[in-house]
Amino acid sequence: MEKPIYASLKSIGAYAPENIVTNYDLEKIVDTSDEWIVKRTGIKERRFAEANEATSDLATKAAKIALKRAKITPKEVDMVIVATISPDFFCMPSTACIVANKLGIVGKPAFDISAACSGFVYLLSLANAFILSKMYKNILIIGAEKISSILDMQDRNTCVLFGDGAGAALIGVTSEREKSIVDVQVSSNGEYQDFLITPGCGSRYPASQEVLEQRLQFLKMKGNETFKVAVKTLSSDVVEILEKNHLSIDDIDFFVPHQANQRIISAVGDALNIDSQKVVLTVQKYGNTSAASIPMAINEFYEEGRIKKGSKLLLDAFGGGLTWGSAILTFNGE
Ligand code: UT7
Repeated sequence: MEKPIYASLKSIGAYAPENIVTNYDLEKIVDTSDEWIVKRTGIKERRFAEANEATSDLATKAAKIALKRAKITPKEVDMVIVATISPDFFCMPSTACIVANKLGIVGKPAFDISAACSGFVYLLSLANAFILSKMYKNILIIGAEKISSILDMQDRNTCVLFGDGAGAALIGVTSEREKSIVDVQVSSNGEYQDFLITPGCGSRYPASQEVLEQRLQFLKMKGNETFKVAVKTLSSDVVEILEKNHLSIDDIDFFVPHQANQRIISAVGDALNIDSQKVVLTVQKYGNTSAASIPMAINEFYEEGRIKKGSKLLLDAFGGGLTWGSAILTFNGE
């Protein structure tokens, strides 16, 4: 009998730019304070990429680590997908094509997806489906952002919250169910499309002097409204995926939520009644890195030796769109 095929997370890698921007640095730019930022978000510092670094540069560095750890050569990669809302170029070429070229991956499909902070869970769902369909065996997925390139450094409501970085994973094949991605679910609700939005320079408001003067090219967020929907959606999404798979929170070794705000993470953790030792928290160090946040968080705990081969992970993401998603999987990296 033919062996069953499942998708498996075989490695993780991440890259954070060297330049650390502290809350005290931001105090010099906008009317804010370290005290406010820490109390309202938990963030102490974030990384901003250099002017000559683009999203593909961050993505490539993370991807190289993931490929090395998976012991996969560029030739063996069947597909590259990048999730980003801060691509190297507006419209085209895709950041994935640039990354594939930098890695020496030739003649394979490469494309970007846009699912904001839920990007990595959307990537997992795509990679899972491509592997289960037996179309591909090794898929490189990358969440990468130079969010600083779309931040309005005059807007204290947003500029203190975000940071740059990239996280990558190699999704491969396993015949063992207990080493695989158990389930991924993703969803959206466009009714709240204006909660997180970069209004300018798309086909709705094409680039013009007026658009630039109104600073519409930058990210805007209805923070408070987003906060409330985030807590509710993240909590219910996790309950749903656990129930669907006949699992309880006690079956999970690490809960890896999107790193937007420590208060959101605590509220969701409390709602789930999860042991705080199991909650992966990196927002204090990197801020909100959008699509890169979940893989960067997994990588942090992996490098600290806490997440290891066999760890059961529960991922939970939420972002612009609105989009959200969750996943249950076993970490199958060495
Ligand atoms: O990644 C995608 C999903 N994103 C999220 O889930 C983010 C969700 N939202 C949040 O994390 C929080 O809503 C924020 C951190 C953005 C804001 O926290 P908040 O507790 O909801 O504050 P608020 O927006 O209700 O603002 C409270 C006060 C306001 O002043 P007044 O009107 O009470 O006088 C703001 O003007 O805090 C003020 N404020 C600031 N003060 C100092 C807003 N930003 C700042 C700032 N520094 N940077």
